Amino acid sequence: MSSRTWLVTGAAGFIGSNFVHLALDENWCNRVVAVDLLTYAGNLENLERHLGKDDRLAFHRVDVTDASAIRAILAQEKPATIFHLAAESHVDRSIEDPAPFIRTNVLGTQVLLDAARRAGVPRFLLVSTDEVYGSLALDSQERFHEGLPLTPSSPYAASKAASDLLALAAHHTHGQDVVITRCSNNYGPYQFPEKLIPLMIMNAVAGEPLPVYGDGLNVRDWIHVSDHCRALRAAAEHGLSGHAYNIGSDNERPNIDVVKTLLKILDRPESLIKYVKDRPGHDRRYAIDAAKAHRELGWQPRVPFERGLRETAHWYLENAGWMERIRSGEFLSYYERMYAGR
Ligand code: NAD
Ligand code: TYD
Repeated sequence: MSSRTWLVTGAAGFIGSNFVHLALDENWCNRVVAVDLLTYAGNLENLERHLGKDDRLAFHRVDVTDASAIRAILAQEKPATIFHLAAESHVDRSIEDPAPFIRTNVLGTQVLLDAARRAGVPRFLLVSTDEVYGSLALDSQERFHEGLPLTPSSPYAASKAASDLLALAAHHTHGQDVVITRCSNNYGPYQFPEKLIPLMIMNAVAGEPLPVYGDGLNVRDWIHVSDHCRALRAAAEHGLSGHAYNIGSDNERPNIDVVKTLLKILDRPESLIKYVKDRPGHDRRYAIDAAKAHRELGWQPRVPFERGLRETAHWYLENAGWMERIRSGEFLSYYERMYAGR
């Protein structure tokens, strides 16, 4: 075990909480400072396994756009690496209202980069996304590689591209040590049920319609969240400053195939599938070329999609209480706004 403190923003969200658990369970560092505002998507229950039970984990409820609070935490905790995951993360919400996306994803990243530089934090890892590259054609063999220009299509992706470019600018202008990861769609435990896979599991279990956008043929390139988290560690430890690394697991699937596979796993009928009005500007296909990460980070994914999907479905079945507690309040009004009359 090394004597390092890692600061993780967005630690109470889906990927952040999985990252914190793995980092502590496998002694990737000796202290984790978790920072999260606890928006609708942040859930302290996600950290329950360690929080208050393991003195290697500290939690600060802080907004990443709050420069003075961030400066104070950096002065107090002196992290060796910042893993910046905090973000507004759902494309549909960004179409409804982009303002919080600009605030958190753009301003928040700038505040954190500036504070990290002034505090002399040795390394800043920005968790970007493959959505910064825009969309690929269904009938092409092309995949995203790091040399492509950033041509995002949704407000979410545009805000992430801005944060990605701000990190590269901090490296170029100030020589700040910055590493960027651009990962494809994640699935696994603790994912907020506004996203495709947990939403479909939740509705299938409840016997409610499964809303598939458009023709259901949009393709996403799925990766198990634990493989993404291991890639974040590898990028922080072996990534070159100023470089971006694509992270993906070679699992391109049309949405309808994913939904049908889930129905099979859960033993529910395909008659639950309901094709609904498409998402405006819906990116057709994402596909990741992760050769650079394999070569330079020594990272390889471990979880085959079929096994990962089965284990994920079972996790949601075994944690029905977690899902039930989310399926109230804000989530209900969101669901009504997003899906009623679609
Ligand atoms: P999530 O929505 O589950 O979690 C985001 C977390 O950030 C929440 O806990 C939320 O409370 C916190 N947060 C939001 N605004 C904040 C603010 N102003 N200050 C502090 N905390 C704030 O998202 P996720 O799926 O875990 O994604 C984490 C990161 O990974 C994001 O940066 C996202 O863009 C990126 N990413 C996600 C995926 C994916 O498939 N989920 C793929 C590639 C990249
Ligand atoms: P999502 O999980 O929102 O991730 P992203 O838009 O960031 O890729 O959606 C994954 C795919 O599933 C995307 O093509 C949109 C589609 N989708 C549906 O068909 N129905 C739904 O209810 C949701 C949430 C997504």
